[in-house]
Amino acid sequence: MKFFIQTWGCQMNDHDGEKLSGLLMAEGFQAVDSVEQADLVMLNTCSIREKAVHKVYSELGRLREEKQRRPLLVGVTGCLAQQEQAALFKRAPHVDFVLGTMALKQLPRLVAEAQAGRTRVMDTGEYPDNHLFPPAVTRRRDLAKALVTITEGCNHACTYCIVPTTRGAERHRPCGDILAEVHGLVASGYREVELLGQNVNSYSGGCTFAELLERVSEVDGLEWLRFTTSHPMNFTRELARVLVTNSKVAPFLHLPLQSGSDQVLKRMLREYTVADYLERIGFLGEGRARMALSTDFIVGFPGETDQDFEATLRVLDEVAFDGSFSFIYSPRPGTPSLRLKDDLPMAVKSERLMRLQRRQTELTQASNERFVGRQVPVRVETRGPTQHGWWLARSGEWKTVHLMVGPGRELPFGELVQARVTMASPHFLGAVLD
Ligand code: 5AD
Ligand code: SF4
Repeated sequence: MKFFIQTWGCQMNDHDGEKLSGLLMAEGFQAVDSVEQADLVMLNTCSIREKAVHKVYSELGRLREEKQRRPLLVGVTGCLAQQEQAALFKRAPHVDFVLGTMALKQLPRLVAEAQAGRTRVMDTGEYPDNHLFPPAVTRRRDLAKALVTITEGCNHACTYCIVPTTRGAERHRPCGDILAEVHGLVASGYREVELLGQNVNSYSGGCTFAELLERVSEVDGLEWLRFTTSHPMNFTRELARVLVTNSKVAPFLHLPLQSGSDQVLKRMLREYTVADYLERIGFLGEGRARMALSTDFIVGFPGETDQDFEATLRVLDEVAFDGSFSFIYSPRPGTPSLRLKDDLPMAVKSERLMRLQRRQTELTQASNERFVGRQVPVRVETRGPTQHGWWLARSGEWKTVHLMVGPGRELPFGELVQARVTMASPHFLGAVLD
């Protein structure tokens, strides 16, 4: 049996895809690179916004046609699977099995049942040990940086968010398990890890998140440590101190703000005011200048006034985020914000999104220009798409770096090299090898 997994969404979903691949490969299945080559196709889905869901259903439509031509097993996993459960079979009757986000290890059983001819096979149970997935099974796709789960689920209750439904309540991996996994990864050649959780900084698997960062950073041979994603209310002074003092923790912080208006934040149930958020960024002190800061915004949340939106633009400027991801509010099934009146025309929402993104582009350009002329360590990721002798790399601040090395020259994949930045655009830094 040959299988292909298509993944959408966040790093946690990517990593789930790596775990699911490992489970299938342990059963003797062979991974292939396209639907056409596969006997089993799994859609590892995201449902954070309506658009992500559309993509899944359109791919399912394509698979229905493929299935009319030849034998093919189709499975749906990930957040849409957990959200829709049996309703998925109604909308897409050609789906053979549905696997939830908290039942990953049930995959071989589900596939075996589907292969035996059972229809509408499903497991969306909440297995309490899902987060204790054995690292030896995982088949990693990203070879420059290894993803490591530290917590799953979220105990916050933001009114717009589907994640508490699709990922459940928080479960934390014991600190010793995480350290053992990182030791193993470094022994097998990884130099960079990214700790994952829907809310990493509420970690409580035997120590605080700040302590966990310190302990992981002590693993010999590890060069950079990253984490995603954080909630401002769990961002402590202790964590800020580790961020600015520990040289192995990459100088990058993604801290979602969502809105610069206290009224909107309240309706979102974000549990903080703008002043609270700014206070937390202040915890970084002078170290802040050496870090890149990024955030998420939701534009057009129900009831967002012109004044609310202007307040968001003001905070964007005040913090001068190095980068941000911004989205138009998307109503999600079963979330509390559905009850709020949402009568803002889409044209207004789109205009606001464009204004915010235009301003962010200027800020990112300014942030990138600060690198010009500097020497920075970057990790070599891949050869550039053209064969003209440039490579893609990443800086500690998570900047994309185009490294010009000249045709024919090979770079050490996955290693740190010293680059000298020669130009800045809003999307990447241009650099040469020093
Ligand atoms: N609509 C729009 N954006 C959303 N996000 C989460 N839920 C929604 C929604 N219903 C955004 C938030 C979050 C990021 C991962 O996605 O900004 O931080
Ligand atoms: Fe998408 Fe959120 Fe699920 Fe990640 S956790 S796949 S972003 S819905």
